[in-house]
Amino acid sequence: MKIGILTGGGDCPGLNSVIRGVVRKAISCGDSVLGVRYGWKGLLEKNYTSLDLRLVSGILHKGGTILGTSRTNPYKKENGPELVKKSFAECGLDALVAIGGEDTLGVAAKLFKEGLNIVGVPKTIDNDLGATDFTFGFDTAVNIVTESIDRLHTTAESHNRIMVVEVMGRHAGWIATYGGIAGGADYILIPEIPINTEEVCESIRMRHAKGKDFSIIVVAEGAAFKETDLILQEKKLDSFGHVRLGGIGHALGEIIEEKTGFETRVTVLGHIQRGGVPSAFDRVLGTRFGVKAYELVKNGKFGKMVSLKGNKIVDVPIEEATKQLKTLDLEIYEIAKIFFG
Ligand code: F6P
Repeated sequence: MKIGILTGGGDCPGLNSVIRGVVRKAISCGDSVLGVRYGWKGLLEKNYTSLDLRLVSGILHKGGTILGTSRTNPYKKENGPELVKKSFAECGLDALVAIGGEDTLGVAAKLFKEGLNIVGVPKTIDNDLGATDFTFGFDTAVNIVTESIDRLHTTAESHNRIMVVEVMGRHAGWIATYGGIAGGADYILIPEIPINTEEVCESIRMRHAKGKDFSIIVVAEGAAFKETDLILQEKKLDSFGHVRLGGIGHALGEIIEEKTGFETRVTVLGHIQRGGVPSAFDRVLGTRFGVKAYELVKNGKFGKMVSLKGNKIVDVPIEEATKQLKTLDLEIYEIAKIFFG
């Protein structure tokens, strides 16, 4: 078989583990793999690279994606889906493994319905995709947030300051809550619950009244004040209709300083959370996803996506991943709350 593989959407630690998993398993079974560069854009612009053992050697520990990525939506381009199908046929592909988040998998689900043999692999550091317990990249991001909070603790303590840490999480507070629990945050703000600034400030005041003279507040970029809309870096939409989030940390920091009178500093972790080496967990999950994706292709299980359920890798319809966002399990937030204040 000749199998195509692409990575779409934001990059994510562990993508190379998936690519390596697919290629190593495919080659060991006598099949070949064609890398499509920059997501769906590669099929629109016929940008490919043959993936052999040499090309996937030494990539397991590398962040990003050796194939490159983009947020290209073929359904927003003139004749986009037809061009993708034409390239698919011209390359002689028997199947395509599409690795991506809600947008890339949304396109994969549509193209499958239009006749292409596609298998999906879920990816996002935000961990907000339905139909899988975890996505790779999330664990690495949480580790980075945890390490950053550890570092912020010592400087916060030395200066008796409030430290606000803005982390990623467009629709869901997974990174904020896991990173916050692991780092011992004193308050965590997530997209699922509107921010009540008075409550946050009162919690800080009470903590200080108990003799603590510093606090760490974690806020997800997608969290919003009760009274206002999301804070954006810019209003321009990408080809999947997303705005650029960012800024809630600074807005919140200003309010906290004004209302409590405690000196406040803000740190925005941004893309630091997405770059660099994947954690061992993400390398293992990516590898398991890659091998399973190949097996789905080999068994003709198209329109399916690999998924982690408990500790088993299973397959589910691609559509299930995109049907509904997986917001934070609020039972976990209840645990985090025990340590607020
Ligand atoms: O992959 C999801 C995500 O990490 C979001 O949390 C964030 O809003 C977005 O990517 C930012 O991505 P970019 O800067 O690449 O557009």
